[in-house]
Amino acid sequence: MENLVKTACVRETVAKRIARLPWAEIRAGLWERGLGRLGVVLTQAECEELRSLYSRAELFRSRVDMARFRFGRGEYQYFANPLPTTVAELRESLYGQLWETANEWMAALSLKGEFPDNLDAFLKRCHARGQKRPTPLLLQYRAGDYNCLHQDVYGEVVFPFQVIFCLSKPEAEFSGGELLLVEQRPRAQSVGHAVRLEQGEGVAITTRCRPVKGARGFYRSNFRHGVSEILNGRRYTLGIIFHDAA
Ligand SMILES: [Fe+2]
Repeated sequence: MENLVKTACVRETVAKRIARLPWAEIRAGLWERGLGRLGVVLTQAECEELRSLYSRAELFRSRVDMARFRFGRGEYQYFANPLPTTVAELRESLYGQLWETANEWMAALSLKGEFPDNLDAFLKRCHARGQKRPTPLLLQYRAGDYNCLHQDVYGEVVFPFQVIFCLSKPEAEFSGGELLLVEQRPRAQSVGHAVRLEQGEGVAITTRCRPVKGARGFYRSNFRHGVSEILNGRRYTLGIIFHDAA
């Protein structure tokens, strides 16, 4: 009867894991600091599988040498459609957890536009505005590489959040290479956050700004993000950006 015994430990799908995350806390982090930590979502095996895709050129639509554009040093590649299953599943399930907060932010900042409740509908809107190229990406940094502070905006349609996953093991596989987030507060000095991510850990960050409650309603505080220099080893990252690119 042994062959009838099913594998007891079937791995939970990525979508189910995303659904179980502490979203109230993550959203509170976005409101308060422009970043919400997801905790470890991806297994070591999933991280290794995802980063192994980097050498398969046929899976990507373009490769960017960051030094060439003075974006920093290192390289990244944008996935082509169809996205790998795990990437597509992450993008869809994360969007499903973030669109309501996105709408609350738009309302707080008196900005036009309401985000639909599912990724497909949102992507249709991107496509209608000429933003048709997929934006999820894999980044590869070696010792000496870094990413300058920037915002990932690729057209008129911008989703206010993006999610970053570290695919390498800090200390064992690389050192340095912290995610940097800088909040440029109006009429005040900027605030910096350095985020050290474990392998498989994700963090949701604001793409451009966050609404901050002031004495007379909300005002807008701008953000840029980047990566500090990698001191040793190699660091792979998966970036889930929701709006497609023109
Ligand atoms: Fe970025």
